[in-house]
Amino acid sequence: MGICAVTRDLPGGALKRLAAVHQVRLWPGDGPPSAGELAELAGPADGLICLLTDKVDAALLAACPKLRAVANYAVGFDNIDLAATKARGIAVGNTPDVLTDATADLAFALLAATARQLAEADRYVRQGRWTTWQPGLFLGAPLKGATLGIIGPGRIGRAVAQRASGYGMEVITFDQADPPGALDALLRSSDFVSLHCPLTPQTAGLIDARALSLMKPDAILINTARGPLVDLVALAEALQAGRLGGAGLDVTDPEPAPLDHPILQAPRVTLAPHIGSATRQARQAMADRAVDNILASLQGRPMPYPV
Ligand code: DGY
Repeated sequence: MGICAVTRDLPGGALKRLAAVHQVRLWPGDGPPSAGELAELAGPADGLICLLTDKVDAALLAACPKLRAVANYAVGFDNIDLAATKARGIAVGNTPDVLTDATADLAFALLAATARQLAEADRYVRQGRWTTWQPGLFLGAPLKGATLGIIGPGRIGRAVAQRASGYGMEVITFDQADPPGALDALLRSSDFVSLHCPLTPQTAGLIDARALSLMKPDAILINTARGPLVDLVALAEALQAGRLGGAGLDVTDPEPAPLDHPILQAPRVTLAPHIGSATRQARQAMADRAVDNILASLQGRPMPYPV
């Protein structure tokens, strides 16, 4: 029996399977542990199940001399310093596939909601501002025939493309391996741009003021990937100045955006609290994958879902 630190209670029965084999040190809070609290929780652990809000860096690893396996409860793993885990020979796993459809559904929901200003229309009705049917009320953008630019055509990007073709959209893609200039071309010709690339030093700030200036003035940006891909202040400025048609954001930098952040005042913005994978089925399956990764690794087998 080993010791496994887990930084949040997880949906479903996966943690019971873990507790049947290992001693589980479960973080009792609803929010993330501080760096010091995480070091204390994981200090004696052989395995760690962590969330995307937990930073696994060299400083944490130094406090965890026995740690052999880290299972991220997410498909993204930008919270983990892979150079530091590799230097220590620590196995790292994530939770691919099981959240692909849930995240693609949310990306598409944000796309359609932003195109039709659904969040603003909802507020308009609730605030008692709707008086009668009007020919020009909340005119939105059509999806059929529109071009969707997908940045990062991996599992989730391809699942969004499938949904888009069902709506009669044209899909174009950009992948980091494409030649220089291909991203600018996608930004110039897309009516909707949806981000599905991982956050890396190369993709941080990918959608900055320059990239936004290349987009059509009525284009809509969707981000369900990671907040730091987008310069949020530049996005708010482009929306306020009428240089962009709208944005649907499940992720922001910082997260959450403070209530006085200009993005909250910008027009035609649909916001969600990082809930791309938030279906019961996906979140339980993610817990199963994280536990499977730890169980395998602590038994000396390769993780079934390594990063
Ligand atoms: C992920 O898995 O990376 C999402 O952001 C949360 O499910």
